[in-house]
Parts: sequence; C-alpha cells; structure tokens
Amino acid sequence: MSETKRLAGEKAIEYVKDGMIVGVGTGSTVAFFIDALARIKDRIKGAVSSSEQSTQHLQRHGIEVLELNHTGMLELYVDGADECDPGKCLIKGGGAALTREKIISEASHRFVCIIDKTKQVPVLGRFPLPVEVIPMARSLVAREILAMTGGQPVWRDNTVTDNGNVILDIHNLSITDPMTMEREINQIPGVVSVGLFARRPADIVIIGGTPPTVL
Ligand code: A5P
Repeated sequence: MSETKRLAGEKAIEYVKDGMIVGVGTGSTVAFFIDALARIKDRIKGAVSSSEQSTQHLQRHGIEVLELNHTGMLELYVDGADECDPGKCLIKGGGAALTREKIISEASHRFVCIIDKTKQVPVLGRFPLPVEVIPMARSLVAREILAMTGGQPVWRDNTVTDNGNVILDIHNLSITDPMTMEREINQIPGVVSVGLFARRPADIVIIGGTPPTVL
C-alpha cells in the first residue's frame, strides 16, 4: 500500500510548475509528495503547510515554509484523503489536520488529491467522519451530531489538534448528501470544521498504481 501511495505522490509532481508556491497537505501519502518535491526544490518558491508535521518534513528538506496570509491564493494544493466518492468529495482529517487543510484547499485554484485505491468508495461514511471541536463544546457537539445524523461520535484519544482543539470521529454514517451534511455540522456552535470536503471537493484525483490513474 505504501508503494501505491508513493506512486500517487510522485505523479502529483507533474502539476508543480516553476516558480510556484505549493500548498502541502498532511499524511503518509503527502510525505511521499514532499520527498519528491525536495528533488525539485530549486524550481519552486516555497510551500504553505497544513500541519506542524508537514512543516517539519518540508524544512528538513530545506523547502521554505511560507505563511498563507502573505502568499495570497495558491495555484496548487496537494493532499491525501481518507475516502473519496465518485464526485471527488472527500473525508479528510484522519491525521487531525482537517481545519488547516480546508483553509488551504479553499485558498487554492487547483486541489490535487493523492490516494490509493482503498480510499475510493461509492458513498462516504465507512471511514469515521472527523470533526474538530472547541474543547468546552465537546459533549454539546456530540449530542447534536447524534441527534442530527444518527452517527455515533467518539472522542479521539490523546489527540489535540495543531489549533489546540479536540476531534470527534463520527461512526456509522452513510453520507448520501455530503454538501448538506457539511453545511449542517459546520453550523453547530463549537464546531471548528468538519472533515467533509464537498463544498470544495478535489479537482483532480490521482490513484497510485502502475501506471497511476488520474480522474
Ligand atoms: C490528515 O488530517 C488527513 O486529511 C490525511 O490527508 C488523510 O488522513 C490521508 O492520510 P494518509 O495519506 O496517511 O492515508
């Protein structure tokens, strides 16, 4: 599986153009992309990172990490996903970086999502849906999500996000209308963001393989 992730990460390099500032996601697939990016680091201006983990990885390779507030819109964002449906809507946040990932994807003209084929699903929801929550609202949000969706919220153990918040993972969902669910969960007070990427789905999906598939 890590071989298919590597193939997806390396394929995404084809979307990096000279002089770009590249938005960089988080996770094991993106780690392969960062390693490949390091090989062409002299051709790019730098990166905007979605997590402390990716920032450290980029900096270890000598790639400059820039502030999104200083860069403006980005041409390209490359990130993984936990699930991907046929409409390129995603579940993300398995690595707890969903909020910064959402911010950078929104700030990017093109979102290239890199996955292996195990992430492709007909309907989102088999992977528990991550929701980043302000700590004092954890129980309130859990009750409201249970009432709203019927899914079972589980407080993720030993996890504090880069923003100082907690994660609820919502189990047993079948998300036939991701756009509506994204909007409704986002409206619960205390929710920072939900790991559904439907309002801003991926533009291009690369599925690692020999050769990689590009959707
Ligand atoms: C990080 O919070 C996630 O959104 C990742 O993009 C997702 O979990 C995919 O991770 P892997 O590439 O490690 O499977």
